[in-house]
Amino acid sequence: MKIKTVSTTPFDDQRPGTSGLRKKVKVFQQPHYLENFVQSIFSALEGFQGKTLVVGGDGRYYNREALQIILKMAAANGFGKVMVGCDALLSTPAASCVIRKYDAFGGIILSASHNPGGPDADFGIKYNAGNGGPAPEKITEAIYNLSLEINEYHTIETADIDIDNIGEQMLGDMCVELINPITDYADMMESIFDFDAMRTLLSSGTFSMRFDAMNAVTGPYAEEILEQQLGAAEGTVLRGDPLEDFGGAHPDPNLKHARELVAMMYGDNAANFGAASDGDGDRNMILGYDFYVSPSDSLAIIAANATLVPGYAQGLAGIARSMPTSQAVDRVADKLGIDCYETPTGWKFFGNLLDAGKITLCGEESFGTGSDHVREKDGLWAVLFWLNILAVRKQSVADIVYDHWRTFGRDVYTRHDYEGVPAEGANALMEQLRANTDELKGQSLDGYTIEHCDDFSYTDAVDNSLSSKQGIRILFTSGARIIYRLSGTGTDGATLRVYIEQPIDTLENLDREPQQLLAKLIRLSSTIAEIEKHTGRKAPDVIT
Ligand code: G1P
Ligand code: ZN
Repeated sequence: MKIKTVSTTPFDDQRPGTSGLRKKVKVFQQPHYLENFVQSIFSALEGFQGKTLVVGGDGRYYNREALQIILKMAAANGFGKVMVGCDALLSTPAASCVIRKYDAFGGIILSASHNPGGPDADFGIKYNAGNGGPAPEKITEAIYNLSLEINEYHTIETADIDIDNIGEQMLGDMCVELINPITDYADMMESIFDFDAMRTLLSSGTFSMRFDAMNAVTGPYAEEILEQQLGAAEGTVLRGDPLEDFGGAHPDPNLKHARELVAMMYGDNAANFGAASDGDGDRNMILGYDFYVSPSDSLAIIAANATLVPGYAQGLAGIARSMPTSQAVDRVADKLGIDCYETPTGWKFFGNLLDAGKITLCGEESFGTGSDHVREKDGLWAVLFWLNILAVRKQSVADIVYDHWRTFGRDVYTRHDYEGVPAEGANALMEQLRANTDELKGQSLDGYTIEHCDDFSYTDAVDNSLSSKQGIRILFTSGARIIYRLSGTGTDGATLRVYIEQPIDTLENLDREPQQLLAKLIRLSSTIAEIEKHTGRKAPDVIT
């Protein structure tokens, strides 16, 4: 095998964000750009000579080209074997599953998650460690620092390999094994859930479901598991073919981007259960007949009903939620007598807690739910979890949520996103809040008294590492919260996220919209931070 060492110069914009390095495709296509980052990943790791790497992606534009570059660099850097999903596909949770099952050294996932795909859209790359989870900050910082000093990378000169057929091939001295991207994941789902009960429900003649794969990676997984293995009617899976540009759509499972699915959830021929997943298969949205389940509620309901699912019949060790996720799950943990951890935004913070056996379930308000079965959030898993609950409880989605609110109380919740705002204004807004945290304490505004205000920082409960500046929290005496943070995944300007929440005990107004119920707090959220002054925006672009 002839290793070629290529001279290069650093780029200064390769700091991984909330989940890996995300940029426009055109940025990744610059000469040496992807290579520099991949070499920085390999240089940040130790002890992988002869070991196995897993590589796959969500099928978006540039996925296949990037895979070929990475394979050659992996061979030159001394990996013994790379396991690759056929067609270069592996959903993010499936990649995590494969890394763990085959005891790989780590993995590289090519995805920009829910961001649009295509030549003018987004691409991304991230490294997952041997536990199957996103690299911890220690490693992502090392990768970034190496990217600032890189002056050469290693590859081999050889033809591209066939990535469309299952089997083994040699690339230089390294073995490349093309695997079926679905099998290991589907087997795992069968070992967790009560497939018999779910089959009975789906063939009862009184129940129907729709799953919107959004022309992204979960299509083939959902067709295999839902339609083939569980016997859901043909056509249950919508937009099932993965496309390089996701059909021009935005593969993010929310009420705005899954409109077709939402329209199928009311009216005469509506389905009883609707769900969707994102570009790389780690997010989920849950719908019932004319009913939307907020992700924070979904996490709480999954936790409260976990023992109905065979894989969690022994109960939960503990639970974690990201800081901006609603406090609904805290009350479930309280009632179950288990710990509930509050972590910064991003899945990487759950890894240590899962590895240490401190938690079984975790989730984020951003349509992410997961458990100790892998080290990523898992869209289809969450959908199957709900299907399993529905099969056992034999109630509608709405009735299950109403029952939950009656038992645990309700957290009215919304998130307002101001997208693509000038970075300068967004940073100034955060700085101003940061400077005012002490001053805000004790203030009474429009009937709401501020009990506490801080810039959230988190000390890892396992390795004691400290992550600071994770978002401004304003906590009111009523239990309400307003949280401000800047997105770490966007590729255009800055995105300001404002999270607004009010827990209520009353069961009146069950069907009133969060925007109405939270109107006063929403107004407060824009005056406290002077959103219009800093961003020039009167209203958010996306409300979830
Ligand atoms: C967003 C979500 C966050 C999630 C991440 C990756 O990050 O808010 O919860 O972990 O995508 O899916 P953000 O853009 O807010 O940094
Ligand atoms: Zn995703």
